[in-house]
Amino acid sequence: MDVFEIQGGVRLNGSIRVNGSKNSALPLLAACLLTDQPITLSDVPELLDTSNMLRLIDELGCQRVDDKPDRASGMTFQTLDTTNHHARYDIVKTMRGSICVLGPLLAARGRARVAMPGGCAIGQRPVDLHLRGLEALGATIELDSGDIVATAPAGGLKGSRLFLGGAFGSTVLGTANVMSAATLAKGQTIIESAACEPEIVDLAKLLVQMGAKISGAGSPRITIQGVDSLSGAQHTVMPDRIEAGTFMCAAAITNSDITLENCPLDALMALTNTLQQVGVDIQPADQTDPMRLTARITSARVLQPAVITTQPHPGFPTDLQAQMIALLCIADGHSVVTEKIFPERFMHLAELQRMGAMVFRQGPTAIISGVRQLVGAPVMASDLRASACLVLAGLAAQGTTTIHRVYHLDRGYEKLEERLAALGAKIVRKTDPNQD
Ligand code: EPZ
Repeated sequence: MDVFEIQGGVRLNGSIRVNGSKNSALPLLAACLLTDQPITLSDVPELLDTSNMLRLIDELGCQRVDDKPDRASGMTFQTLDTTNHHARYDIVKTMRGSICVLGPLLAARGRARVAMPGGCAIGQRPVDLHLRGLEALGATIELDSGDIVATAPAGGLKGSRLFLGGAFGSTVLGTANVMSAATLAKGQTIIESAACEPEIVDLAKLLVQMGAKISGAGSPRITIQGVDSLSGAQHTVMPDRIEAGTFMCAAAITNSDITLENCPLDALMALTNTLQQVGVDIQPADQTDPMRLTARITSARVLQPAVITTQPHPGFPTDLQAQMIALLCIADGHSVVTEKIFPERFMHLAELQRMGAMVFRQGPTAIISGVRQLVGAPVMASDLRASACLVLAGLAAQGTTTIHRVYHLDRGYEKLEERLAALGAKIVRKTDPNQD
């Protein structure tokens, strides 16, 4: 397994382009199962998770039909074989996001067999809301040897009014599953307490391009009028707001001056609001498309503490909680971060303590007392965003930080070490000598 070796204390400079969003690309790829017409997707990021999703939809009969040499200019997919409706455990276990094929498969083929995704480092990751939402559309749901077996009624799914909220608020992929399935259900579906994340808006844009009738995406109430079939379409994946936020934190923690291109500033207002309070200046260079801006990031030498609670969009995103904690480790004062979406999402705290951070956990809350300087150390990545947090800490720390198990990072950040090195960071990928 690979490691990252970082020599900290180097200021970054230059510009970096934000890639297409992982968390948008996965449901967009799943939506290709809803039609037998070709779908062209541009800016699908080159990641472990998207490669696994390509493998999964290929197994489900949706193949790549273009002959382009790379992904940059877009990939075209077409469902040519609908016989297999089983999303196997050995793919689903590598990526929980595979669950988002459930709704499209059920709606397009009348049945779906999808392995129950396991838990992961950030929590149990239940799918009860997904299943309840699909049952509200008339599906029969059974569990068989670890697989979800969903069957539509003989006449197909039927639209209904349903409430999709749970104890932790809305569900992003649950909303994607139910909204996708409802596009081919008979009649009207109203999803109350739908997820408002920008990735849901991006998915709705593709579905509408395919001929679906959807209104309210981005709000807690989404209305879908079912249609008989969906056509082909072309769509560019929205920029990755979490990657953009991670780069903003990288600039701030190293007191750098960098420019982000293709930056979805409009989808990051909770983060930018907090960063501005902490002492980070975010200057959009133009106002053409607030979802694809060029933005210059600079910060004060001394950062201020903050009090943050993660919430569903438009609240502070849970996927930027770890990166923000890394930044607050060197702020001048005490910060409090409460994690309301995944209360166990604190695997990064113990590793930050190894680097001299003064962070303490009290249940779903982390208390951070800023220190003047972090110190480089060997640390262990555990999940995607915790790994990003450790990279940020390593960029700021004095001395060398070695991050083990960087395959976690490769799931959600494309060639991160190369792109940071292009900004002047002293970061290299090496093979782990101990192969732990
Ligand atoms: C999506 O996961 C993202 N993943 C996650 O990003 C992100 O953290 C999460 O949304 C919240 O924003 C993708 O889009 C691929 P949820 P999802 O259903 O949809 C509970 C990353 O780092 N819940 O919105 O699986 C759940 O336990 C990843 O890129 C139920 O109780 O998350 C959690 O507490 C990590 N029952 C809360 O809701 C359900 O049926 C939000 O989960 C579903 C969820």
